[in-house]
Amino acid sequence: MDEFKEGKNYKLSIIHQDHNGRGIAKFNRYPIFIPYTLPGELIEVKITKAKKNYAEGLPEKLITVSKNRVKIPCDYFYICGGCDIMHQKYEDGLHMKKRNLLELLYKFGKINIKLVKINDVVSSDDIYNYRNKVTFHVKDNKIGFYKYKTNDLINMNKCLIVNDVFNKILKVIKKNLKNSGITQITMRCGEYTNEIMVILKTDKDIDEKFYNSILKIDENIKSIYQLKNDKYKLLCGQKYIHDNLLDKKFQISPDSFFQINTKQAEKMFSRVLKYIDENDTNILDLYCGIGVISIIVSNNKRNIIGVDIVSNAIKDANTNKKINKVKNVEFINQDVSNVLPIIKKAKKNLNVIILDPPRTGIDKNSIKIINDLLPKKLIYISCNPVTLSRDLRELSLNYDIKEITPFDMFPLTHHVESVCLLIRK
Ligand SMILES: C[S@@+](CC[C@H](N)C(=O)[O-])C[C@H]1O[C@@H](n2cnc3c(N)ncnc32)[C@H](O)[C@@H]1O
Repeated sequence: MDEFKEGKNYKLSIIHQDHNGRGIAKFNRYPIFIPYTLPGELIEVKITKAKKNYAEGLPEKLITVSKNRVKIPCDYFYICGGCDIMHQKYEDGLHMKKRNLLELLYKFGKINIKLVKINDVVSSDDIYNYRNKVTFHVKDNKIGFYKYKTNDLINMNKCLIVNDVFNKILKVIKKNLKNSGITQITMRCGEYTNEIMVILKTDKDIDEKFYNSILKIDENIKSIYQLKNDKYKLLCGQKYIHDNLLDKKFQISPDSFFQINTKQAEKMFSRVLKYIDENDTNILDLYCGIGVISIIVSNNKRNIIGVDIVSNAIKDANTNKKINKVKNVEFINQDVSNVLPIIKKAKKNLNVIILDPPRTGIDKNSIKIINDLLPKKLIYISCNPVTLSRDLRELSLNYDIKEITPFDMFPLTHHVESVCLLIRK
């Protein structure tokens, strides 16, 4: 489009917000995507990219301000890009997430959203300090996150959405980083146990003095690891930390997945529990991680199989089984796409399949086998509405989508998690 030139400024009206939280302006039918802006605003925009079918820009000046804009409490908001809807009233952000979910279900899933019960987004009690895990990058004595769409590191003093204890540790570590060779620092914390794990990524040997100094920062630091060549080496303390979910206790390894907003995860798993009844005695929990869902839904009348590709996650799952004194649950360390053909061949009788895949969704062949296995009920948990919609399109050949509930697992960002109940036609 010739009208828009990179590097030039234009006055544009924001008419909509896309599923990445960016404002959309239109010139004739040509869309311009501008982060940190809201519908109803008139903005002076610098165009950063002008392509044939779309352009991108950054706001230079707010001319008319939306009543849904709030004061931004973070010093890094316009450069970091992590909390991309922090400028939006919380309730309005929730409406945006639901609206975008509906649009994506229709666009990529061809789902008749009028026939599905789609609930409002379940809000998070905490919108700050909710993350129980963070990874800060380190370069040239700077520590923080990368600037939006660049490799430039922002030198940060704190992040408002992570557990505040990580900010305290960040401040102290920052003073001692020189010549440490550290390129990344990951911290994890149990929301209910307060146990902290620190993981230092570096190819250099780490001085005992250095990690002992970290240990002294907070009495709850229980475990310090080094990550070198993709391998985790325990430097001091315990091998694991723990956290609780719905009164069950879980052991977490440095590389195991654990839901990052613990309290919101409890609300989400309560929904999963609600969907399972006394007739559901044979359950397959695919992408099970450290066994959280299997263990939460287990009782002595149910047989459950959990599957995950990460071996440490399955080791944790087996320990979690013992910690919670759970029986009739078996965990398999495998790729879901390898396990499903075996289950199909064995003609296993299944009542429910629970699916909680990564952002990429479920691979095509696995979807095909699920459509062959045809259990009465599917419960699909997804952190990516685009791949969810794509997969629901295939699954809705044999299933009615009964209910979808979005959960605000990642407040102040555009991300949304959804739990879907599907019943065989
Ligand atoms: C979103 S997490 C869900 C974990 C678990 N349900 C929970 O809530 O704690 C996705 C999980 O899928 C696993 N995973 C990714 N690709 C996989 C595959 N092809 N086969 C099996 N597991 C896979 C990851 O290791 C991760 O634990």
